Amino acid sequence: MSKQRQLKLGAMVHGVGHGWGEWRHPRALANASVNFDFYRQQAQLAEAAKFDFVFIADSLHIHEKSSPHYLNRFEPLTILSALAASTRHIGLVATVTVSYTEPFQVARQFASLDHISDGRAGWNVVTSWLSGTADNFGKAEHPPHAVRYRIAKEHVAVVQGLWDSWEDDAFAYDKHSGEFFTPGKLHALEHQGEFFSVKGPLNIARSRQGQPVIFQAGTSEDGRNFAAENADAIFVNAEGFDQARAYYQDLKRRASGFGRDPQLLSILPGIRPIVGRDAAEVEDRYQQAVALVSIEDAIVALGRPFNDHDFSQYPLDAPFPELGDLGANSQKGGSERIKQLARDEGLSLREVALRFSRPRRDFVGTPEQVADAIQTWFEGGAADGFIINSLLPDGLQYFTERVVPVLQQRGLFRDEYSGQTLRDNLGLPVPVNRYATASQASETQSEAVA
Ligand SMILES: Cc1cc2nc3c(=O)[nH]c(=O)nc-3n(C[C@H](O)[C@H](O)[C@H](O)COP(=O)(O)O)c2cc1C
Repeated sequence: MSKQRQLKLGAMVHGVGHGWGEWRHPRALANASVNFDFYRQQAQLAEAAKFDFVFIADSLHIHEKSSPHYLNRFEPLTILSALAASTRHIGLVATVTVSYTEPFQVARQFASLDHISDGRAGWNVVTSWLSGTADNFGKAEHPPHAVRYRIAKEHVAVVQGLWDSWEDDAFAYDKHSGEFFTPGKLHALEHQGEFFSVKGPLNIARSRQGQPVIFQAGTSEDGRNFAAENADAIFVNAEGFDQARAYYQDLKRRASGFGRDPQLLSILPGIRPIVGRDAAEVEDRYQQAVALVSIEDAIVALGRPFNDHDFSQYPLDAPFPELGDLGANSQKGGSERIKQLARDEGLSLREVALRFSRPRRDFVGTPEQVADAIQTWFEGGAADGFIINSLLPDGLQYFTERVVPVLQQRGLFRDEYSGQTLRDNLGLPVPVNRYATASQASETQSEAVA
């Protein structure tokens, strides 16, 4: 009998939250974004519920109007290294940009996290959308959107090449003979490309899961192709079942087009569930979440995918402003969606801002209702799992303690971890070291000749 397909679940641990108002909730920890105990408690909650991974997002540029979490937060690999020691099974996924890092450094950092956590590291590859990032890295200009994805392609290829520097059994550690490693099992990459020149090899071995898992979240044409070709798991903002289903099918089709098995690519919409015991508590909690979003904050938030564009200059109740190609060099896919939606539905600026800042109703309800919605998306071809964001301070706790048991009763989610690594959690094979494959192939060839 074939095993029932199961959901993949990640928890986005995001300090004081996405928006500008969450930190002011009476039960919120105002310093959550730099509070290790908060991160440890959230990761342990997610692990107790058998989640596949926790995810730490990131960016590298702020200004006075950035959201509270952006203003004062942990660097992802540092916090995940600490969480590795406080957890045993859950995957640890960090955002790191390709536009402002060197592949050698990134390969080394993720390989280290992968060893520290014994095979639980994942890299969310982003290209960075805020142009002000260039000012923090001594760059004359922020690379254009299309160039950023070319950089991404080469950067990831170099990182993955470096991760194969050592074959799995390269370190002999033979005290008797004095052989620390077997020389033929160490490989230099010798990469010379458009953006990077990296000789290698990397100064750390492969981990138990071979290589860290690749995550991505592209929505533009270039972003989708990059994700479909390179990612093991893809994040997407959930804007309703139909749109999520279309995105899901498109990405799976593109993955097949790149010669990949689409079943090995997990598509994970980000959702913000609000759960209550009964209808009255659901409504109360929903209203608590709505109260955290003022129209002023929603207007600032709307600017984010448009390189923090200042929308306060336009009249609130007039039709959504004409923006030309604003956003095309920032979050291209996301900003296009917003413009398109405003056009299609003839919305005002106020309506658009609130639509994108207020929690959607899709995943608001009792534990059974939220589980129903998750099941509908999962079985209806719109998701392989979800990345859970919390709006209220106890949002993750409500979800893990109330919704997860319902999903488990329905056989949709695991009761226990069955593997050890993030790849095991996600059902991904360990990638064979490219040099081992090459030497096996040449051995087979010479045997054939002999
Ligand atoms: C769930 C989710 C998480 C994301 N996390 C980050 C992040 O941590 N840092 C970042 O710069 N962008 C992040 N993004 C944005 C994407 O990297 C990307 O810029 C966006 O999806 C636009 O895609 P495009 O560049 O193809 O237009 C995230 C997107 C989603 C849906």
